[in-house]
Amino acid sequence: MGTDFTGLFNEWAQTYDQTVTGGDIQYKEVFRFYDEILNEVVQHSKGNVVEFGVGTGNLSKRLLESGLSVTGIEPSIKMREKAAEKLPALTLLTGDFLSFPPLQNDVDSIVSTYAFHHLTDEEKGTAFHLYKELLSKNGRIVFADTTFETEEKKQQMIQIAEDKGYNRLAEDLRSEFYTTLPTLSQIAEDAGFCISFKPLNQFVWLFVAEKLNK
Ligand SMILES: C[S@@+](CC[C@H](N)C(=O)[O-])C[C@H]1O[C@@H](n2cnc3c(N)ncnc32)[C@H](O)[C@@H]1O
Repeated sequence: MGTDFTGLFNEWAQTYDQTVTGGDIQYKEVFRFYDEILNEVVQHSKGNVVEFGVGTGNLSKRLLESGLSVTGIEPSIKMREKAAEKLPALTLLTGDFLSFPPLQNDVDSIVSTYAFHHLTDEEKGTAFHLYKELLSKNGRIVFADTTFETEEKKQQMIQIAEDKGYNRLAEDLRSEFYTTLPTLSQIAEDAGFCISFKPLNQFVWLFVAEKLNK
């Protein structure tokens, strides 16, 4: 695994579901339309699904409800406990985007929300190459995460956060590995995927990367 964020998420697990429903003013816009964002990911998912960074299980719940088979992978023990409380039937493994136990089924969709930015851009590239091998023919990656159209746009959003006195958000945007659409396009192309993007709120973009079979 790359940078280890599990301490942070073990602490956040208790109150995480309050944050996603707008309980933290600094993150309100990041989580705006949270339900719709999860639904959008579900709509693009198919077959046997592997979900990374399940957190408290909010996306897993919707995937299961829509009849998909789901294996969840999550590094934080406290997050796994929260998800298991909500979803006792969910197959939940300890692991992260780059390192996880062997998976049993053919994988048709690899999905994630609000988590891929924990990898550096180099690690994101490693992950896409790994997923190309893991995915079945016509498999896809479906991620929603904070991403910026350009580096300038990212700096603007950090400045806006600072101007509002949202110092935790500004520091988060500066210190974690939030990337840009052109960088993701390059990563996907290099790994053999065709990627498309859709904005879901001021911060979050949906990206769907279809495996090219050549
Ligand atoms: C902001 S939460 C998102 C939780 C959930 N997916 C959602 O949309 O509400 C980020 C999650 O990613 C997990 N995470 C952190 N680093 C990770 C990594 N390298 N690989 C996979 N998951 C990671 C955290 O433990 C946390 O549960």
